[in-house]
Amino acid sequence: MSTTRGLEGIVATTSSVSSIIDNVLTYQGYEIDDLAEHASFEEVVFLLWNGRLPKESELENLKAQLAEHSDIPSEIIEQMKSYPLNSIHPMAALRTAISSLGLYDAEADVMEEEANQLKAIKLQAKIPTIVTTFSRLREGKEPVSPRKDLGFAANFLYMLTGEEPEEISVNAFNKALVLHADHELNASTFTARVCVATLSDVYSGITAAIGALKGPLHGGANEAVMKMLNEIGSVENVEPYIRKAIDNKEKIMGFGHRVYKNGDPRAKHLKEMSKKLTEITGESKWYEMSVKIDELFTSEKGILPNVDFYSASVYHSLGIDHDLFTPIFAVSRTSGWLAHILEQYSNNRLIRPRAEYNGPGKQVYIPLEKR
Ligand code: CMC
Repeated sequence: MSTTRGLEGIVATTSSVSSIIDNVLTYQGYEIDDLAEHASFEEVVFLLWNGRLPKESELENLKAQLAEHSDIPSEIIEQMKSYPLNSIHPMAALRTAISSLGLYDAEADVMEEEANQLKAIKLQAKIPTIVTTFSRLREGKEPVSPRKDLGFAANFLYMLTGEEPEEISVNAFNKALVLHADHELNASTFTARVCVATLSDVYSGITAAIGALKGPLHGGANEAVMKMLNEIGSVENVEPYIRKAIDNKEKIMGFGHRVYKNGDPRAKHLKEMSKKLTEITGESKWYEMSVKIDELFTSEKGILPNVDFYSASVYHSLGIDHDLFTPIFAVSRTSGWLAHILEQYSNNRLIRPRAEYNGPGKQVYIPLEKR
């Protein structure tokens, strides 16, 4: 047996949900550049789940279903109030709340296709409400109920602040959601597929995926980028900070990728958005610092920014708390996780690889009193 560390380059499944071929990312055959420019997040959700773009009536129907299921059980709100609100990370809260949500769905373990599709709608509809409810509760505020007349992106921002967001914020947030929706067999999606391939339920699959996304080598990188930008503080400090990090062989968060070696195609959209939004907020320094880090690190190490790098300054400019960046990634990626979960169920085989043993050779058991 031979091993491939981190399963690099291993093709572990077939999937029609999304592809990365020659550095181009597509969702069901549609290039991410086109979708980022033109599509609403709801259209992308439909595309990922159905393999084609919706007709107008189908899109309206999906939006109505998402709105219908966007409230969360009062029990979940009460449970959240009992969390140690100010000492836990919102990703830990989200992981726990999504797992709890399964307790209040009588059909959680019903494995028929239709039941699983309904669970997909419910999860996609409720995850923004969970994230924003947690955020409000820890600020000592009342949760804001979802508004059924707002689109997905607008409603998220509305539930976060209690105020109807400006169009420019909604458009930027929608684009960020579109860009994060799916990404082939990334770590959290693989986790979701491994989990449900045991024929475990959809809630378990999404809970497991959230756990995998939480780590700083995956979704947690966007928050870590903002932490670094804060530490650096100014454009002048970029060069000494980055040079020292390079000398100390430290990782610069938001750079590098297992699959993309010529740059992440999503990064340019976020870079453009970062420029626009930081100009509007009058805080161009976040964009300027990011560009300087990008130029310096890329020229010194040849490692390019990934989706998480410029999304940090984008979300910051939208006034979002830094530790909510990764939960927002989860809100979007839930659409992809669900597409993969439904695909896994439709053609399931248990995922059970092997490990090459490198432990001790044959041992003789020594009774406790003789050790
Ligand atoms: N900073 C410094 N060096 C790096 C970085 C980085 N961000 N990324 C890779 N390298 C170096 C790494 O040290 C290694 O050097 P050497 O060959 O001298 O040991 C070389 O590049 C190859 O890297 P690797 O760690 O073997 O690559 P990987 O495919 O195992 O890891 C990665 C990919 C994304 C985990 C890694 O690039 C990383 O840790 N980046 C920082 C965290 C990050 O931004 N994560 C978000 C990933 S994209 C969004 C998502 O999917 O969640």
